[in-house]
Amino acid sequence: MKKVAILGSTGSIGTQALDVIEKNSDQFEVSVLSCATKIERLIQQIEKFHPKMVIAAEEKDALLLSKKYPHIEVDFGLAALSTAAAGEADIILNSLVGMHGLVPTYHAANAGKTIAFATKDTLVAGGELIMKTAARCGATLLPVDSEHSAIFQCLEGNKGRRVRRILLTASGGPFRGKSRAELENVTVEQALSHPNWNMGAKISIDSATMMNKGLEVIEARWLFDIPAEQIEIVVHPQSVVHSMVEYEDTAIIAQLGMPDMRVPIAYALSYPERLKLPYASLDFFGSAKCLTFEKADRSVFSCIQLAYDALKAGGSMPAVLNAANEELVAAFLARQISFTSIQDTIAEILARHSCKYCCSLEDILEIDRETRAITKTLI
Ligand SMILES: NC(=O)c1ccc[n+]([C@@H]2O[C@H](COP(=O)([O-])OP(=O)(O)OC[C@H]3O[C@@H](n4cnc5c(N)ncnc54)[C@H](OP(=O)(O)O)[C@@H]3O)[C@@H](O)[C@H]2O)c1
Repeated sequence: MKKVAILGSTGSIGTQALDVIEKNSDQFEVSVLSCATKIERLIQQIEKFHPKMVIAAEEKDALLLSKKYPHIEVDFGLAALSTAAAGEADIILNSLVGMHGLVPTYHAANAGKTIAFATKDTLVAGGELIMKTAARCGATLLPVDSEHSAIFQCLEGNKGRRVRRILLTASGGPFRGKSRAELENVTVEQALSHPNWNMGAKISIDSATMMNKGLEVIEARWLFDIPAEQIEIVVHPQSVVHSMVEYEDTAIIAQLGMPDMRVPIAYALSYPERLKLPYASLDFFGSAKCLTFEKADRSVFSCIQLAYDALKAGGSMPAVLNAANEELVAAFLARQISFTSIQDTIAEILARHSCKYCCSLEDILEIDRETRAITKTLI
């Protein structure tokens, strides 16, 4: 039995991971569950999966849970998530959203754990730190993001072979094909309604601005140790080809499947084995009959270019991009700013920032705090 600690079990990735675990209960045991706001959902998960430990974001919720479940260890806050990340579980699924994922990931890497890794923002802000720590301490990072899981699978069995390009596919989001003028007045509801994937609010808005793809370019750069110039975005509206790797002989290996996050989650949890899953197969004569590919429009979706530029600049720039984006997405969701203000304000913040070397956890957290403060004044 593999013991799994799920940080962020009440979110979109967390609940889908629990679906995979429930269908394979002879192979996995849930040791840790955690939530921030969805206490009722966490209680349902506790009743079903009987974890040894649960972590809330706030002390008052932890008190409530410890009264209800006196036999379970209950704690709260970032320190508890970090302790659990470095604890006894065989695999840590980090499905926390945004920068909340960084510190627990660092502690898991430092403890040499196997980490199933959804929280891309962590690698955007702290890629160099996390990868160096993982290498030094013998930790393994297994990608959960469908594109990175696909790339990981396309690279398997080809260790040491030269890669010409990574072809990172993108659905294009709900506003594919729209002009800049058409994006000016889009609503929160329109931006949240992704054509292919049902995801948490933050990543849904990132998909609409296409910042999600920019963040994924940075994630791929660190996970696969490949320069940004060799990572190309290919818009593929059907989300059937999850990504591809082209080798130096021009042969391309692709990974295909239904757009269902439970499949890459299952692969990360079961690696190097594959689980028997009861989900629908891809229908080549139905939904996959016509697969199309387009270039991403970086002039309309300028977040893509901003992410490439931040990655090229290096140092503190990606952490600034990430923090500014997180604050601006929250402000858009709170209806304080327009959709296009997200990309315009990030561009302004990056232009003002003087890039510095930034490789310790403290440096990254400091840059993150500074950038959030600046972004809030601009909002
Ligand atoms: N969803 C997808 O299909 C998908 C695909 C690829 C990659 N990802 C990545 O996976 C990560 C999670 O995405 P998601 O869509 O699952 O997000 P989500 O639905 O918003 O879930 C986020 C999780 O983090 C918890 N959380 C939020 N704020 C917290 C805090 N202050 N302290 C502790 N926990 C906190 C949430 O708790 P509550 O729910 O209790 O508030 C929830 O359990 C993101 O980095 C995203 O980019 C997601």
